[in-house]
Amino acid sequence: MQGCDASVLLDASPENPHPEKEAPVNIGLAAFDLLEEIKAAVEDRCPGVVSCSDILIYAARDAAHALSNGNIHFDVPAGRLDGLVSSAAEAQAELPDSTFTVQQLIDNFARKDFDVEELVILSGAHSIGVGHCSSFTGRLTAPPEQINPAYRNLLNHKCHQGANPAVVNNVRDEDYETVSKFMPGFTSRVRKISDFLDNTFYHNNLARIVSFNSDWQLMTHTEARGHVHEYADNATLWDGDFAESLLKLSKLSMPAGSKGGIRKKCSIATHPLY
Ligand code: HEM
Repeated sequence: MQGCDASVLLDASPENPHPEKEAPVNIGLAAFDLLEEIKAAVEDRCPGVVSCSDILIYAARDAAHALSNGNIHFDVPAGRLDGLVSSAAEAQAELPDSTFTVQQLIDNFARKDFDVEELVILSGAHSIGVGHCSSFTGRLTAPPEQINPAYRNLLNHKCHQGANPAVVNNVRDEDYETVSKFMPGFTSRVRKISDFLDNTFYHNNLARIVSFNSDWQLMTHTEARGHVHEYADNATLWDGDFAESLLKLSKLSMPAGSKGGIRKKCSIATHPLY
């Protein structure tokens, strides 16, 4: 919330009982243990030198590279410090929500100096991963002009399989049986290996097969829709622009005058301040 400072990795503590990661809007965050494992390995070799915020952005860089089969690549400067301020209430109030209108999304991104094009570029990350059904409840009853009815039926089917299960964001990553039952025309797109970070988000959006309202909302704004078409038509352009926007995101700095440090463990806020 206050820059790329790894505050999202902090656990609840007596001093701070409600950190960012507890905000409902952060329901999708995961892999905290993996980041802690990486930090422990780095601390082992090189104690007190590499911040959790640098580890987090290196992990994002490497994940983007690996998940795109090397198509997305960028260098990140090191030297971030870890922040101490981590508030669930602030995260809930300031992070974009999947129920937002396109104007709310645009205003939210503008507050951090990201424009409409960058909003569209970064939303393309939804070509991978999952969303809990609670993150797209409204889409389960949305009219056909907003969501492909066959896809809506597929989502409804998935969401009835447990209490708030997570469903893949990209129909291409769905199991073959489910796709052949609900969307037989899409079976040729089902992949054996899931989570390929590419421009399929834009194709899916044009075909009304995205799960989040916030993603569909991009289609309701002339400039944003233009960019959806642009990135659907040009996969290489998106790879490069996504790398650039993710790098920009990683450079969001803490408010002027904030103190930062290098934590020993990413989940615990004990570190000397600089
Ligand atoms: C435009 C504003 C955005 C909204 C409203 C939004 C909303 C969401 C929601 C609701 C989920 C599912 C959470 C869950 O139910 O588990 C999600 C997942 C995800 N989002 Fe976003 N998101 C936005 C922007 C971004 C950006 C900028 C990125 C990265 C560049 C991103 C990457 C992801 C990824 C990778 C997942 C899947 C996570 C997983 O598999 O666990 N999103 N997003």
